[in-house]
Amino acid sequence: MVQLIFVHPDGSQTEVDALEGQSVMKAAVANDVDGIVGECGGAMMCATCHCYIDEAWADRTGPREDGEEDMLEGAASEVTEHSRLSCQIKLTPELDGLVIHLPEEQL
Ligand code: FES
Repeated sequence: MVQLIFVHPDGSQTEVDALEGQSVMKAAVANDVDGIVGECGGAMMCATCHCYIDEAWADRTGPREDGEEDMLEGAASEVTEHSRLSCQIKLTPELDGLVIHLPEEQL
């Protein structure tokens, strides 16, 4: 199991136990985390899985995948240097405890 901590815009947190190999988006949707929609199912065609990786974890999640940048242009909330498409982040044991900040809106 990989523990994820989602931080909502109001500062509240939702902790989720996710599976290795799962994407952050799938883990959020499977656990009904408000704020991650994942409309395209992870095909990198929607940007409704936009999230902000906590600064302390940015090195461990690595750089954006090819094409993520373009998709993020369509995100409903502000895009920052920590913006990622959560469907493109696959969970590994190294990401246990990952902190993910949720945007104000996805649609
Ligand atoms: S779920 Fe659609 S881009 Fe991530």
